[in-house]
Amino acid sequence: MGTTVALTGASGFIGGVIAQHLKKAGWHVRGLARSPRQAQKLENLGIEPVQCQLENPASLLALVKDSFAVIHCAGAIRGISREDFYPTNVMGVSNMIQACLAHSSLPRFVLLSSLAAREPSLSPYAWSKYEGEAVLTREAWALKWSIFRPPAVYGPQDRALLPLFTMLRKGIGIQLGPTQAKFSLIHVDDLATAILHWLKSGDPPSQTFEIDDGFPGGYSWEDVFRISNPRLHLCLRIPPSLLKIGGKSNEIFSHLFGYTPLFTSGKVAELLHLNWVCDNTHVTQTLGWTPQISLKEGLRRLFTSDSLMPSHRD
Ligand SMILES: NC(=O)c1ccc[n+]([C@@H]2O[C@H](COP(=O)([O-])OP(=O)(O)OC[C@H]3O[C@@H](n4cnc5c(N)ncnc54)[C@H](OP(=O)(O)O)[C@@H]3O)[C@@H](O)[C@H]2O)c1
Repeated sequence: MGTTVALTGASGFIGGVIAQHLKKAGWHVRGLARSPRQAQKLENLGIEPVQCQLENPASLLALVKDSFAVIHCAGAIRGISREDFYPTNVMGVSNMIQACLAHSSLPRFVLLSSLAAREPSLSPYAWSKYEGEAVLTREAWALKWSIFRPPAVYGPQDRALLPLFTMLRKGIGIQLGPTQAKFSLIHVDDLATAILHWLKSGDPPSQTFEIDDGFPGGYSWEDVFRISNPRLHLCLRIPPSLLKIGGKSNEIFSHLFGYTPLFTSGKVAELLHLNWVCDNTHVTQTLGWTPQISLKEGLRRLFTSDSLMPSHRD
């Protein structure tokens, strides 16, 4: 068995943590770098950089060559339309698969998808994750593959949930969805250890795994507030109409000022969805992995920087 794992998205939040867990477990990590500057950053983190482009299948051959497994974690999380997400989240998956199939060693393949793929009609992002999974199941016929579908992932360097948790710590709860909504969460370290279990598992079936921290029935906003800070001074419930105006306005501003937005009408549709709860039974039975990090413990790690994640952002 080889010891090299090819990883995309190593410069991002989740991929960065996965890389550190892999290294700690003794794997040689080879990471996709989009630029010489990014290559230098990966090298500084002990990751062998391969400069290549997800959009260019031939350039990916060197990334996956002789690897035992490929963990495809790169993904576009910002954008407004399907066209914004398609090249990375759909074509990128196809290009990675083609690169793997070109090598006779046929590495195992993990796609980091999203629970959003369960509801492709909600947003262009959700659609792109669903289509990325469909491409994998259609094209990776000769590979041993698995799809991981995490819900919202939190941890150090995460820029989506961290502001909410930081406000909660200061005693201010900001509710961005319906009171009756239920959702799962997972700490990034738990997600990374599930992938390590997958790597060590003898012959993983080509299957899709939903994965969360095991909080039964999922969290309500009230649960998150209570667990994060039982002594809130203020709770702001943002009404759906205001969220929708915010999402639309941000799209208009992004056109005017030339940035790619995270908070969009699509993201609002995801926030207003009532059921983002998942179930660990299948992943636990198949891989023998169980979540170790409750929200309380995850927040303790978040605010004490007790994690494997090095600070490598600009
Ligand atoms: N965060 C969550 O709550 C969450 C939940 C479920 C699923 N996911 C999935 O997890 C994956 C990672 O998300 P994240 O939160 O870690 O996002 P992130 O911090 O924005 O990282 C995204 C990574 O993907 C890379 N990337 C994006 N477009 C690329 C392209 N065209 N070519 C090559 N690399 C590209 C980025 O590289 P650069 O640094 O060069 O931009 C970065 O390394 C995504 O697939 C996302 O859909 C995330």
